[in-house]
Amino acid sequence: MPIDNSQGVTGSTTEQAPVRKIACIGAGYVGGPTCSILALKCPDVQVTVVDRNEHRINQWNSNKLPIYEPGLDEIVQHCRGKNLFFSTDMTTALKEADLIFISVNTPTKTFGLGKGRAADLKFVESCARLIAEVCDQSKIVVEKSTVPVRSAASIINILKANTKAGVKYQVLSNPEFLAEGTAVSDLISPDRVLIGGENSDEGRKAIRALSWIYQHWVPADKIVTTNTWSSELSKLAANAFLAQRISSINAISALCESTGADVSEVAKAIGLDSRLGPKFLQASVGFGGSCFQKDILNLVYISESLNLPNVAAYWQQVIDMNEYQKSRFGQRIVSGMFNTISDKHIAILGFAFKKNTGDTRESPAICVCKHLLEEGAYLHIYDPKVEKEQIMQDLSEENCGAISVSIHEDPYDAARGTHALVICTEWDQFLEYDYKRMYDSMMKPAFIFDGRKILDHVALSKIGFHVETIGMRTSQQYFYTLFCQ
Ligand code: UDX
Ligand code: ADP
Repeated sequence: MPIDNSQGVTGSTTEQAPVRKIACIGAGYVGGPTCSILALKCPDVQVTVVDRNEHRINQWNSNKLPIYEPGLDEIVQHCRGKNLFFSTDMTTALKEADLIFISVNTPTKTFGLGKGRAADLKFVESCARLIAEVCDQSKIVVEKSTVPVRSAASIINILKANTKAGVKYQVLSNPEFLAEGTAVSDLISPDRVLIGGENSDEGRKAIRALSWIYQHWVPADKIVTTNTWSSELSKLAANAFLAQRISSINAISALCESTGADVSEVAKAIGLDSRLGPKFLQASVGFGGSCFQKDILNLVYISESLNLPNVAAYWQQVIDMNEYQKSRFGQRIVSGMFNTISDKHIAILGFAFKKNTGDTRESPAICVCKHLLEEGAYLHIYDPKVEKEQIMQDLSEENCGAISVSIHEDPYDAARGTHALVICTEWDQFLEYDYKRMYDSMMKPAFIFDGRKILDHVALSKIGFHVETIGMRTSQQYFYTLFCQ
């Protein structure tokens, strides 16, 4: 990809620039790509990404970045050492910065009040404490991590309670809307940039400073400013709406399997309505990723805490439908293979939560694999980008019976000798495989369970596969309904 660092802000000199140095705490899926694009598009600004995880920082400084994101390698190589730095020296970076992004993870709490639902803000809080401790000049602090509504208030309180004399902070909310696998294009051409801040002279000045950064490449009409709480809630709401669409089409997919309708045809018909649009209507084995489930659980928890049980129950249903979809697919594999997979060998193609990423957080593949392992199957897993250690860790975290898993570096090796192929991720390369070659090397009858609805099912059936997919009744199911029930 050619590197385009064209600027939209012209005529700005270093003296006039409201921000000369940026620090970002958290070198993860959000902080790393976001700061790389900031550095690319703002050559007049120095960007330093800091993390307490030394290994991660070393990876960002190496030729093998810690995350796979199409187009990112070239950008990091272009900017690193010029105006983009990765460091573990948090104190220096924070002291020198005019503006500090907090991009640390906010996992769901695993203990105590709100366990399993509320966001754990301990990392955000420790960042606020560190900023207050080391900074002796005024700063703009920008909350980029997805956080519960009114989190900025906690950051402000911590900063105020610990601030050194003469130091002032403005806290802004600037949620990140990038999706993994498309982070670079999402950041370069965002639908919108959202900045929430305090409605005061100082607040507006801070908003203008952060807008100035984005105006280097984002048209001004796409930079939306709101109050802090609207900005925080918008991020949770956007993710909840997106996930809700997937759960809605997945609910319809179950109806399709029972009626003979085809969910792809239904999705196309729905999506042609300009009020609805065609995106995010791909029925699947279920949604995954670090955001959707976490953010909706967080929304549910907030609603309950605010004594809005009906609102909480409404959003909880989006999660429940997703759980249902994942377990329904696992059950369908078992029932499709004569109600037993004990000692059968099954190839899993794709383990990442979506294509073009090596991330497995909340991947539906984990749930499907655990289900199959509990039923006594042996799994042969292949994913183009997920590390072997990550798969083993994901499958050993909870009690899922005897671990009978082998990880393969070649999809044909994974398929050889198995009874079934299960597609869990929609990788483009899965469309290119020689399925006749796989079929010839498999046990018969050979099954394919396409959890992403991406393959050419007619062609596969002609090869001899018994094909089952989401949101469509197979001829075998139809036969079963007609004659066996
Ligand atoms: C999401 C939001 O899209 C992004 O704006 C936010 O900043 C972070 O959360 P991400 O989780 O990276 O991004 O990926 P996304 O493309 O939204 O996909 C999430 C999950 O939904 C994946 O498992 C994907 O496979 C699934 N999905 C998506 C479907 O099952 N069907 C669809 O039609 C779309
Ligand atoms: P996200 O997807 O939100 O970017 P990641 O888990 O990929 O989440 O990245 C978050 C990063 O934040 C991790 O690399 C983690 O080490 C870092 N981090 C968390 N807490 C702190 C902290 N208090 N100080 C510095 N880095 C932190």
